[in-house]
Amino acid sequence: MSRSLALTFTIALVAGAIMGLAVVLSQSAQSVRGGILGSSGQALIGGPFELVDHTGRTVTEQDFRGKYMLLYFGFTHCPDICPSTLQVVATAMDALGDASDEVVPIMVTVDPARDTRELMAGYVTAFHPRLVGLTGSEEQVAQALKAYRIYAQKVPDPDDTNGDTYTMDHSSFLYLMDRQGRFVTHFTHGTRAETLAKRLAEHIG
Ligand code: NI
Repeated sequence: MSRSLALTFTIALVAGAIMGLAVVLSQSAQSVRGGILGSSGQALIGGPFELVDHTGRTVTEQDFRGKYMLLYFGFTHCPDICPSTLQVVATAMDALGDASDEVVPIMVTVDPARDTRELMAGYVTAFHPRLVGLTGSEEQVAQALKAYRIYAQKVPDPDDTNGDTYTMDHSSFLYLMDRQGRFVTHFTHGTRAETLAKRLAEHIG
């Protein structure tokens, strides 16, 4: 092989590898978008719901129009992830100062069987005075989980004999929805409070 032919061959190999990588990267980007955006480019996360807030008022997504919603789906018996995430939300709300008026932090239960309105009231107010707790019937909660594409599954306690001690395996994202209820972005449950406050401030503008 002549030197120039070898060089051409090498360039072709490198170019091929780069193109292959580009295809793989664009496919994985599409699959990420596919999980959040539909083919029209509209977000698939969000939609109508009717639930009961921790004060006993029946609310729908329309009641939160005009403010950003910072939504978390969890349950009051959760031993670790839910309380730590809600603590991050509470700290971020305080760090936001006046801008926090533009955001309504909301916890929707994934465990309506145990999370009564009264239990939600005690729970959410212990984290932050502005945190809204939402529960409802099994059907109402199921509809909300479906709209927000939340996975939640009851996991029985192996030591339980009467079937009332169980935990919930569930998605643990924070969703930011805009003033019209449209999906803006999500945060994973490990996000630090300072990061969350900074990102919220950027989005609220
Ligand atoms: Ni949890």
